[in-house]
Amino acid sequence: MSTQEQYLITEEPFYKEVSNEVVLYKAAYQRRLPVMLKGPTGCGKTRFVEYMAWKLQKPLITVACNEDMTASDLVGRFLLDKDGTRWQDGPLTVATRLGAICYLDEVVEARQDTTVVIHPLTDHRRVLPLDKKGELVQAHPDFQLVISYNPGYQSLMKDIKQSTKQRFTALDFNYPDEATETNIVAKESELDIEQSAKLVQIAHRARNLKGHGLDEGISTRLLVYAGQLIQAGIEPIEAGKMALVRPLTDDPDIRATLNNAVEMIFG
Ligand SMILES: Nc1ncnc2c1ncn2[C@@H]1O[C@H](COP(=O)(O)OP(=O)(O)O)[C@@H](O)[C@H]1O
Ligand SMILES: [Mg+2]
Repeated sequence: MSTQEQYLITEEPFYKEVSNEVVLYKAAYQRRLPVMLKGPTGCGKTRFVEYMAWKLQKPLITVACNEDMTASDLVGRFLLDKDGTRWQDGPLTVATRLGAICYLDEVVEARQDTTVVIHPLTDHRRVLPLDKKGELVQAHPDFQLVISYNPGYQSLMKDIKQSTKQRFTALDFNYPDEATETNIVAKESELDIEQSAKLVQIAHRARNLKGHGLDEGISTRLLVYAGQLIQAGIEPIEAGKMALVRPLTDDPDIRATLNNAVEMIFG
């Protein structure tokens, strides 16, 4: 298998369009503009990139960012082996050479000194300097950079610099409307529509608590988990508590409120 094939998505990922994001993304890709996907966790950002990579038939290289990540983790490093030192490209460099869509997931997690290595790739230069190796990699014509960003986690300590932000176009993501989300849950968990709709109702109650003791509402991802637990034979109330309440908060009052909603809706 070639490197190119290794990163191609061969089967169509299930993705339900929520707004006009497909057309907008395609236009951005056509001009190879960098794209930032903004939105809460578990609302479909990653699934969307997978879907677009499949649709465009371009390889996709995903990097889950974290605070321990260094620039070398992205661009590459020298390794020692029996013959001496050998350079190994990091995922960003592989994507740059190969012409892949490089998706940096949860980029706020990375330290700002790590994030700046993407700058020269985002403007007209489209280059990646490998300082340690003394090489300037010219991006393949198909290369595109995509990052995801959760505005909810914004804090003064942890935010992307304006100088980074302003190198991207952006798409807003949010939880889908009720009917769409019900369909997604039904499809992803193979639960019937009626029960899926109930799960979505619970999420709507919880999302109203955002800012009133909850940092973030119940994600579509958690709804899918709850559906899968019910499909695995767990009582809906128990499944709701396991997938929709406990992961979200340890605050006893909010838990009680959410447990109540689960019991009312499935009772
Ligand atoms: N628009 C959508 N179409 C299909 N599935 C979706 C959609 N939005 C969310 N999902 C479901 O929610 C899960 C979490 O989505 P994901 O893309 O991983 O979220 P994010 O990257 O925003 O945290 C997916 O695995 C999928 O089951
Ligand atoms: Mg994601």
